Amino acid sequence: MEGFPKDFNWGVATSSYQIEGAAFEDGRGESIWDRFCATPGKVANSEDGSAACDHYHRYPEDIQIMKQLGVSTYRFSIAWPRLFPMGNDVREERGFDFYNRLINELLANGIKPLPTLYHWDLPQPLQDKGGWANRETVEAFKKYSVAAVEAFGDRVHEWLTLNEPWCVTWLGYMNGVHAPGVKNLDHALAAAHHTALAHAEATRAMREVRDDLKIGLALNMTNYRLEDESDPELSELGDLMDAQLNRWWIDAFLNGTYPQSLMDFHEERLATIIQPGDLDKLKVQTDILGVNYYSDAFLGLPRPEDKPLIEEGLFPFPHRSNGSAPEPHTDMGWPVTPDGLEDLLLRIARDWPEITNIAITENGAAYDEEPNEDGVVEDARRVDYLESHLAAAGRAIQKGAPLKSYYAWSLMDNFEWAEGYNKRFGLVHVNFKTLKRTIKNSGKAYSKIIEASRKA
Ligand code: FCB
Repeated sequence: MEGFPKDFNWGVATSSYQIEGAAFEDGRGESIWDRFCATPGKVANSEDGSAACDHYHRYPEDIQIMKQLGVSTYRFSIAWPRLFPMGNDVREERGFDFYNRLINELLANGIKPLPTLYHWDLPQPLQDKGGWANRETVEAFKKYSVAAVEAFGDRVHEWLTLNEPWCVTWLGYMNGVHAPGVKNLDHALAAAHHTALAHAEATRAMREVRDDLKIGLALNMTNYRLEDESDPELSELGDLMDAQLNRWWIDAFLNGTYPQSLMDFHEERLATIIQPGDLDKLKVQTDILGVNYYSDAFLGLPRPEDKPLIEEGLFPFPHRSNGSAPEPHTDMGWPVTPDGLEDLLLRIARDWPEITNIAITENGAAYDEEPNEDGVVEDARRVDYLESHLAAAGRAIQKGAPLKSYYAWSLMDNFEWAEGYNKRFGLVHVNFKTLKRTIKNSGKAYSKIIEASRKA
């Protein structure tokens, strides 16, 4: 694979609720995903993450698998309700113990930990008070982040605050397909602001505890491809969507602003949410921009029935937009567009030259291959996806994009949120009855790429 320096960080990614299981063990509190999964009709086949991959008990085996793959770093997330079950100041030491065990085992095996503090499992008691729509959650998140750095910061030097605040905001509080399942534009806009504020406040507070940390966040980003670039209505919509997805959180931490087009669009509502002095607080030194990239988004002319929704602020959703997306699609229905990764990385380098450390914190594909008679998982489509996206990332590096790390989503098949266990993203197959792990051909291919790049 061309373009990657010898010291490139090769990793795999997961998140707590998607893999840990042991949802009611060792004092872990209820999260919004436990509640959402228990609500009929929210998750495919009424599945939930209560058992998942049982990583809570099987982490030593999973770390051995990472070692076999040859990765140098592991992105996981910390479950807030394991450390603070009620979302307040009351600690659960058994939760801290678990992450100490995990971190120590990673380090003993030469794997650098990259924890994400918030990958969607908000303590339910905080949601009962409004969750991310409530400004108090910013303060609660700051305290939790400080406690995590105090506990683990002697060994963990790189951190991500939030994962995909766009999804937290728009899937969680506007279209309700993710926990907490709220559908309310005022709540969504408040969440958009409070997540940006939470990143900044937590980052500053974490640095006060230790000044040797590198801190970032992970954003889901894409390229909007317009069906007709010359159409003014579509161009305007494309710009608003780009602002909402790609620019909102970056403008916040880099400049202490939000995109003007969205400020104008939501002017009256935002006026009651953004308090005097807030914008100044948004700006914060952010060392790592995590980019989660799965596919480009294809945007067609709005259908007449969509127009009232768009006027309300409910824009079409990136991967499900109504443009004509090319084949092939993954099991998520997302088109496979590797060149888009190169374009996106180069766009970041061009538009935000202040960003000097990009990590692809997620990239991967859902395909459902099972082990064959010989126990081999022949997931050729995932091998293609991986190789073509890495080739695109390598080209971007050669053209000057400051890409330093790549984390494949995901280490292993896991609980894919509202889609349940049907959508398999793993480099490692998990049999959800026996919990047996089997490295897929894509895992073997990734391992070869890593090995070759270290030798080159
Ligand atoms: C991202 C999430 C991650 C995973 C992938 C497929 O939006 O961050 O947890 O579910 O999608």
